[in-house]
Parts: sequence; C-alpha cells; structure tokens
Amino acid sequence: MAPLDLWLRCETKEFEHRSMLTPTTAKKLIDSGKFTVTVERDPQRIFKDSEFEEVGCKLVEHNSWPSAPLSSLICGLKELPPNDTTALPHAHIMFAHCYKQQGGWIDVITRWEAGQPTGMLYDLEFLQEENGRRVAAFGYHAGFAGAAVGTLALAKQVGSNGEKERLGETKPYPNEAALIADVKGQLAAVEAKLGRKPRALVIGALGRCGRGAVDFFKEAGFEDDNIAKWDMAETSKGGPFQEILDADVFVNCIYLTSKIPSFIAPESIEAAGDKRNLRVVVDVSCDTTNPNNPIPIYSVNTTFDKPTVDVEGLTVGPPMTVVSIDHLPTLLPREASDAFSNDLLPSLMTLPEAVAEREPRQGKPITAQDVDKAKPERVWKEAEALFWDKLADAQRETKGKSA
Ligand SMILES: NC(=O)c1ccc[n+]([C@@H]2O[C@H](COP(=O)([O-])OP(=O)(O)OC[C@H]3O[C@@H](n4cnc5c(N)ncnc54)[C@H](O)[C@@H]3O)[C@@H](O)[C@H]2O)c1
Repeated sequence: MAPLDLWLRCETKEFEHRSMLTPTTAKKLIDSGKFTVTVERDPQRIFKDSEFEEVGCKLVEHNSWPSAPLSSLICGLKELPPNDTTALPHAHIMFAHCYKQQGGWIDVITRWEAGQPTGMLYDLEFLQEENGRRVAAFGYHAGFAGAAVGTLALAKQVGSNGEKERLGETKPYPNEAALIADVKGQLAAVEAKLGRKPRALVIGALGRCGRGAVDFFKEAGFEDDNIAKWDMAETSKGGPFQEILDADVFVNCIYLTSKIPSFIAPESIEAAGDKRNLRVVVDVSCDTTNPNNPIPIYSVNTTFDKPTVDVEGLTVGPPMTVVSIDHLPTLLPREASDAFSNDLLPSLMTLPEAVAEREPRQGKPITAQDVDKAKPERVWKEAEALFWDKLADAQRETKGKSA
C-alpha cells in the first residue's frame, strides 16, 4: 500500500494555536512507513514550522489545502471559515460541529455531498472506542485551564481596592510550567488578603474536565483538604448547595444530559449575605444557553479578551464573577495538542486500511451494519457510516422544507 498523505492545514479561527498533529505524532506516523505528512506553514500554530520539518514533514504554503491532491487527507481541528459553500472533494478529519443540528449545519455537511464521489468527513467529536468513550478529547486541559483562569480572576479581584479590578486579556502560555509559576506567584497575596488558604470546589470531578481542574489546583499549591471533589454521589441530594458558596472558586465540569436542580441560585447567593466566600464561578461545561443550565447566574460566553462577567444584582457580599469561555484548552496549546494528538495516534495508524476500502467504493454509502467491528480500522468505518447517516438527515430536512 502506498503511504497515505496526511495534510495538516492551518487553523483560521482567531486565538486558535492548537494543532491536530504535533511534531511528535508526525514523526511516529512517518516512522511507521504508512504515512507521509504535509504541513502548511502557519505562524499561528504553537509548534514552529521548523519543528515539523526537522522530523521529516514536507512544508507547503499557508492555506493551500484546497489544491492538495485528492488522495491527501486534510487534517485540522476547528471549523473551516464560514460563508463558504464550495464543494469539499477531499476527506477531512476535524471537528465540523454539524452533527447536532447546530445553526447552519446543513450548509456545512452538504459541502461534502457536493464533493462526491471523493469527499468525506471523519468528525473528531464522534470517533469512539468500543466502549463508547471518545478516542480523543480536549476535556482534561479545558478543566485545567478553567481552574487556572478562575484562580487568576480570584487573585485579581481580592487583590484590588474594593475588589473592583477584573482579570484582563489572558494570552496562551508557552507551557504548563509557565502557567503554574504565574499562578503560584499570585497565590501568596490571595492567602494574605483572605487571611487563610483559598478553597476550591469542583463538580464533575471524576470526568475528563474535572480531573484536569483538580490537578490544576493541586499543582498550583491548593491543599488537598481545600479542594472539594464532587461528582454524582455528592449532588444527588439536590441543590442549591451551601458548600459552593463556602468555596472561593467553584468549577463546574459536569456533562449535562437532563434537567437537574440548580447548583447555585441568585436567591441562595443573596441569602448567604456577607458570609459568602465565593467570588469566582468557572462554568467549564458552558451550557450557557441551555434552559437546563444548573448555573443560572449568567447568560453570555466570555472570551480570553475579557474572561469574566459580573453576576448582576448582588446587594451584599463581595463581587462575584463568572468565567464561561468555551475554548479553554487554548490557554495551553502545546500540552493540549500533545495530549489530544497522542490519544488519536493509535486510531490514525489504522486509517490507511479504512481509506483503501473506501476509495474504490467511489461515494457509495455504508451503514453501521456494514462495519466489521473486529477490524482495527472500525473507528473510521463507523465515522464514515455516521457521515452518511447525518447527510441523509440533511437531505430529508432540505426536501421537507422545499415540499
Ligand atoms: N469550555 C471548554 O472549553 C470545554 C472544553 C471541553 C469540554 N467542555 C465541556 O465540559 C463538559 C464535561 O466534559 P467531559 O469530557 O469532562 O465529560 P465527562 O463525561 O468526562 O465527565 C463529566 C462528569 O460529570 C459528572 N456528572 C454528570 N452529571 C452530574 C451531576 N448532576 N452532578 C455531579 N456530577 C455530574 C459525570 O459523572 C462525569 O464524571 C461537557 O459539557 C463538555 O462539552 C468544555
């Protein structure tokens, strides 16, 4: 089998420094003899172009993937630039955000329909292990970064006169050590102002994001007894919870699937009066516009430009802010990319077999029943079947509208 070319495209979203492939995983792919790796030059990516070149990747022009050979598989993370409806005749691996009927989903998925018989989307969000767990996800670093932003916000607020100051634009850190050093440097002042060690509470602590948040607090020097780690067992009694108001920083990391009692509510915050410690809420889960959001104290997503939004209407106690950034891993692009790409690597190694089976079919759809679950490339075949399934949904929806 000729080596499969993976073409790492540039990311076009502002503030996005992460990369689906890293110099480490690119080297392993090339060393396997099954792949060549082509990398678009990209000043925004956390890894230097030269790091890829040194491990044997071929460098090409920025944003040149539309003219790549059709046999190249285009690799990226985030969505392609909006308002482009041109056909996509390549196979892409990426997060396309069009399978949950998000706004504009039909326009996105039908670009691959227009790219038949060669176009294909392998959506990273839906690559699954046999046990249903995601093959690769950024959750751990989302929780880690969320806890970090929350602690930085706390430091800024308690450190200012009348707690009027707010955390300003927060840029990505070159690595985790630099982030931890920055936070540690600010925690002594927080402790002095509070007159005690700071306390954190993490809900969803057994999940990916939650583990990252807990690890951050440990690495930053929070004492273990001052990091409350809650999951299903602790919330089963039903909120709102006084324990949240007793912590200085609360990080919500749950995977919300249904309506649950709120964890915190404007009335309980007000009732706590000036006995409330809580100053910063980090909603990593970011179910901001979901009517079942168990943190009903804010209504917008914040960004790294202006990471916090004030909880409005408080008449007693210190000011309180919410961090609701939906792209938190961007704070640590190097480590987040390394972890994601490493988790993806074993599956990538089975991709050439999946492509070799798909190409001769020339756009003939498969269903989940057609997938041989015993074969190592199962994960890609299931992703392909899902693509055809979602495309059929889009076709039905379009027909329904025009009928
Ligand atoms: N803000 C960001 O940048 C960002 C990035 C990645 C993921 N996320 C979001 O973070 C959320 C969590 O993702 P994950 O990968 O960690 O999920 P996960 O499935 O690994 O973990 C979720 C955890 O929440 C727990 N949980 C669910 N309901 C609960 C409840 N009512 N009370 C207490 N615990 C509860 C589960 O038991 C589990 O341990 C998702 O909504 C995801 O979309 C946000």
